[in-house]
Amino acid sequence: MSESSFIGHNIDIAATLLRKGEAVAIPTETVYGLGANALNVKAVAKIYQIKQRPTFDPLIIHLSSFDKVSDYVEEIPEVFKVLASKHTPGPITFLLRKKSIIPDLVTAGSSYVAVRIPSHPVIKELLEKLDFPLAAPSANPFGYISPTTAQHVADQLGNKIYYILDGGPCEVGLESTIIGMNDDGKIEVLRKGGLSVEKIQEITGPVIIRDTSTSNPEAPGMLTSHYAPKVPLILANIRELPLNINPERTGIIAFHNFVPKIPHKHQIVLSPSSNFEDAAFHLFAGMRYLDGCDIDVIYAELVPEHDLGIAINDRLRRAAHIEKSGH
Ligand code: TXA
Ligand code: MG
Repeated sequence: MSESSFIGHNIDIAATLLRKGEAVAIPTETVYGLGANALNVKAVAKIYQIKQRPTFDPLIIHLSSFDKVSDYVEEIPEVFKVLASKHTPGPITFLLRKKSIIPDLVTAGSSYVAVRIPSHPVIKELLEKLDFPLAAPSANPFGYISPTTAQHVADQLGNKIYYILDGGPCEVGLESTIIGMNDDGKIEVLRKGGLSVEKIQEITGPVIIRDTSTSNPEAPGMLTSHYAPKVPLILANIRELPLNINPERTGIIAFHNFVPKIPHKHQIVLSPSSNFEDAAFHLFAGMRYLDGCDIDVIYAELVPEHDLGIAINDRLRRAAHIEKSGH
């Protein structure tokens, strides 16, 4: 583990560094972000550099309230306003046509910018102190599991950032759901996330769910090899594991109860009460924990495929994807 003396709770320190054009790790209710002044190209460039993130992968901008969105985008479809009135602040991101004030580096050249209003009280207070939006991707090295505690950020990026603003463990634990509107006026979900598709559809009616694509992804969160631990993760019926496995060197991610014969210290039970919110909260930290254990393989089971279970399974499937090189 790396030194963690630069983890702190001081919102004013974070604000001062951000005003100077530095990148600071910030808590949100979904995952920790690596934030910088979205209107300052040099500051934004630091995010890409620290994360080792390719500049074709655009960033989400974070604002303190939905009222401010119109300062940065050309227009907001009515249905998005209705959705926002019900679900912002919260784990949903809107793709909207950007105004020229948003640098192309933020959007990787796209004419659309991704906008989110986080609900975490610490980032809300921070954003209210700033007179610019924060561009912030998840604060993990590109391709690895998103951080859900300040210590996760310190462990991986600690020596590259001045300050990690600690807001405790992220309540949601999964990245925001990203939605956009296509040329036919239909709503598309580009990334399944912390706000369930069911909750969106209650307001919008049926939406299109975009499939994953590894080549030229629309939202690189769609890259199938994202969110991957280094220990191979295999999706399986964990109640019928192969007979030849070494139980001492096997990890388990189970939805609600332990598997016999495998040491409990190598098992993550996402939610003993089969609750999706709990499971989402524990998922990334659990993957990280197992990734740090001395084991050869992780077997994981999928959870029921509805509500937040859809986003949980999406992350498990991506984590199970073998193609990990280059990220
Ligand atoms: O919950 C979240 O959304 C977290 C917290 C920190 O807010 N952020 C996050 O950011 O997950 P990131 O960069 O790890 O993932 C954002 C995804 C990326 O896959 C990116 O490609 C997509 O959003 N995205 C951002 N701007 C886009 C744009 N203009 N067009 C298409 N996709 C975009
Ligand atoms: Mg990310």
